[in-house]
Amino acid sequence: MKLDVLLGLQWGDEGKGKIVDVLSPNYKAIARFQGGPNAGHTLKFNDKKYVLHTIPSGVFRDNTENIIGNGVVIDPIIINKEITKIENDASDLKKHLLISKKAHLILPTHRILDAAQEAAKGKDKIGSTLKGISPTYTDKIGRNGLRIGDILSPNFMDKYNKLIEKHKKQLKHFDFEYDLAEFEKGWFEGIELIKKFKIIDSEIYINKLLDEENNILAEGAQGTLLDVEFGSYPFVTSSNTIAAGACTGLGVAPNKIGEVYGIFKAYCTRVGSGPFPTELFDETGKRMQDVGNEFGATTGRPRRCGWLDLVILKYSIMLNGVTQLVITKSDVLSGFETIKIATSYKVNGEEIDYLPYEINEKIEPIYTELQGWSQDISKIQSFSELPTNFKIFIQYVEKFVGVPIKFVSVGPKRKEMIFI
Ligand code: GDP
Ligand code: IMO
Ligand code: MG
Repeated sequence: MKLDVLLGLQWGDEGKGKIVDVLSPNYKAIARFQGGPNAGHTLKFNDKKYVLHTIPSGVFRDNTENIIGNGVVIDPIIINKEITKIENDASDLKKHLLISKKAHLILPTHRILDAAQEAAKGKDKIGSTLKGISPTYTDKIGRNGLRIGDILSPNFMDKYNKLIEKHKKQLKHFDFEYDLAEFEKGWFEGIELIKKFKIIDSEIYINKLLDEENNILAEGAQGTLLDVEFGSYPFVTSSNTIAAGACTGLGVAPNKIGEVYGIFKAYCTRVGSGPFPTELFDETGKRMQDVGNEFGATTGRPRRCGWLDLVILKYSIMLNGVTQLVITKSDVLSGFETIKIATSYKVNGEEIDYLPYEINEKIEPIYTELQGWSQDISKIQSFSELPTNFKIFIQYVEKFVGVPIKFVSVGPKRKEMIFI
């Protein structure tokens, strides 16, 4: 069997959590492959709302296993809180939550270093979620990191103290006050909790599941434009958010990848700093933010909003080998008289149809304008019932990027979905 991948094609928050939850009954297991608690994946059903940060979004389905892969970074404090919040409603976590031995640990000092580094950057700050993501991946690549498998080792405390001392030396270079003790108690409580779950050689486990003809869905975090390699560098996260990241983040070979679901909002949002060619600073952007309730699921920060950008969408589809598209939040655009879509850019007087190396304020998006629709579409359950102008919008995007839109999400709830 193949590993399907679902990932974001913009700057994150495309609605990945909701769609993974909808698709998860079709899969034996859902696996996160990168990122960590910088992610905030929102699920809504039975009049309840859940925000997942580290745990895969299949966790509310009775027959689905949830694997935190080797490419993920885990903060014991945050995963502890997450488990406490969901354990009454989730499927049996002791049975269905599996954690890779090779996943790296976010230490309390990684979080402190993240804050110190961001503060030192001043106005050039990345707008990090301050969850310690960059320092943890830096230690991973620098071959200093601690992994989940280490917590089972008799000399774990030595390893922990050694790394903490190293971080303390690094922190001396910053004019930054911190209180390590404030974090440490909760951190070790989290470590004890993690030990109660299945800690596995996830790459072996996952490949065995595939060999035994099981479907697995890899759940991306962040989005393609936040990929450390191809995103709007340096305003990116520190992992590979693209489909290739599922191979390294789970230990699955490229020829075992099946469908790649690319998910995008009907407009664009971005939280944190960095370039955003179609960003709106006017009433229209404000309306998207209000109607779309565009506030970060992890940090509560307001999300910047702008029109859909097909230059970016095409680029993301190319990088990920997207086979099926999922559009979310189309309902937010109901009532707009016209809908704009960026189809190319003007840079220094020249029109280009690709994302240039320097993504900056010199990029002037060139828009196509389509007629909007006035009806509330959130209760619609079939494609045929959708307003004609909405169908024209969908067909325009499909034709432009050359990939079919197979799912239309028309609201935050599990049931607010149209399957095409
Ligand atoms: P993720 O990080 O990609 O999982 O997305 P987030 O959960 O951070 O942000 C998506 C937000 O939009 C959440 O508040 C969802 O409940 C909500 N949402 C998802 N799909 C839709 C949709 O089709 N329409 C509306 N109005 N909201 C949606
Ligand atoms: P989900 O999975 C949106 C952004 C941060 C910041 C940059 C770097 O919910 O889509 P980091 O903490 O990773 O060092 O921050 O990336 N960012 C996200 N934006 N959704 C996310 O995840 C994000 N995770 C990180 O705002 O600009
Ligand atoms: Mg999110």
